[in-house]
Amino acid sequence: MFFSYKYQKAIKKARSLVQPALDLSDKIMRNVAENSPQGLRERITQTVARPGKRLRPILLFLLAQSNGEIKNLERVARAAASVEMLHLASLVHDDVIDGSELRRGVNTLQHAFGNKIAVLAGDYMLAQSMLFVIDEEDRRILRALSVAASSLATGEILEIDLERSAKISFEDYMQVVEGKTASLFLSCAKSGAILAGYSDDIVEECGNLGLHFGIAFQIIDDILDYGVGAGDLGKRKFEDLQNGLITLPMLLYFQKNPKDEMAHLIKNATDQKTADLIVKKLKEANCFDEAKTIACDHLSQAAKVLEKLPQSSITALLKDFFETMVERRN
Ligand code: FPP
Ligand code: MG
Repeated sequence: MFFSYKYQKAIKKARSLVQPALDLSDKIMRNVAENSPQGLRERITQTVARPGKRLRPILLFLLAQSNGEIKNLERVARAAASVEMLHLASLVHDDVIDGSELRRGVNTLQHAFGNKIAVLAGDYMLAQSMLFVIDEEDRRILRALSVAASSLATGEILEIDLERSAKISFEDYMQVVEGKTASLFLSCAKSGAILAGYSDDIVEECGNLGLHFGIAFQIIDDILDYGVGAGDLGKRKFEDLQNGLITLPMLLYFQKNPKDEMAHLIKNATDQKTADLIVKKLKEANCFDEAKTIACDHLSQAAKVLEKLPQSSITALLKDFFETMVERRN
């Protein structure tokens, strides 16, 4: 609880530090949504208006600001809007794939309007996210975001291919996590570093920072899906297992225990009693704590990169943010 409070404090401080930039990138996204053609306007406006955490833009803004004041706020805000719009597009598609009804406490597009509309609205948002940076003078940013968009799709496909596989390995899991989540954090940290005017070496290092942060972020997401340490997630819990997804806590359980009994429980994970029993077994086998330790290790690697940047209140804040993120509750 104490760390969770520290995390809330760190994220609040980070958000307030970049608030004008965040407001501008939100405005850029809202403008596109509100000026979309009939049939998309309302649907995209409501997706953009959802109360998201905006972690990706915050990370981009903090890094862009870590080498001195931002000179061209509009330019940085467009890159951040691109990252967030790409993220939102991928969530719209992810909700189709997972059949999710709720996201950030609001009905998903697929639930409200069906799969066809949701797929096309996600496509439109993806295209718009690229248009945000089409005039960006540094082509490395457009490249980083296009690479991330490809990785999101390949990570997601690998996850589907591995669904219900009894043979999923730690390496498989990491490949999924790097593709579907960490790749976008990587590209947004890299873009922030490019916009800060860092040398190529530091830009690469910042990419690694984003990668490690993203891996840790997804591991915590996977723990929260079991309801462990979770606050109000704004989405249904236990969806991963019910969709046949084996994530890190279960993977660690399988490493220590024969699969048969648990495999039977997983098949019945829609029943609340069975879900509670699964959580109990994983807790007893220490799987959630071990998964958190792996996340902490990645956060330490992300924090190590900060030592190579000019030391300031921004790097101190990022360090706080990395040290406490493992305790986030939603
Ligand atoms: C949420 O993870 C999903 C992602 C992080 C990526 C989804 C990517 C795609 C659907 C590929 C499409 C890509 C583009 C560029 C449009 P999660 O399912 O673990 O988390 P959740 O519980 O919040 O759904
Ligand atoms: Mg999902």
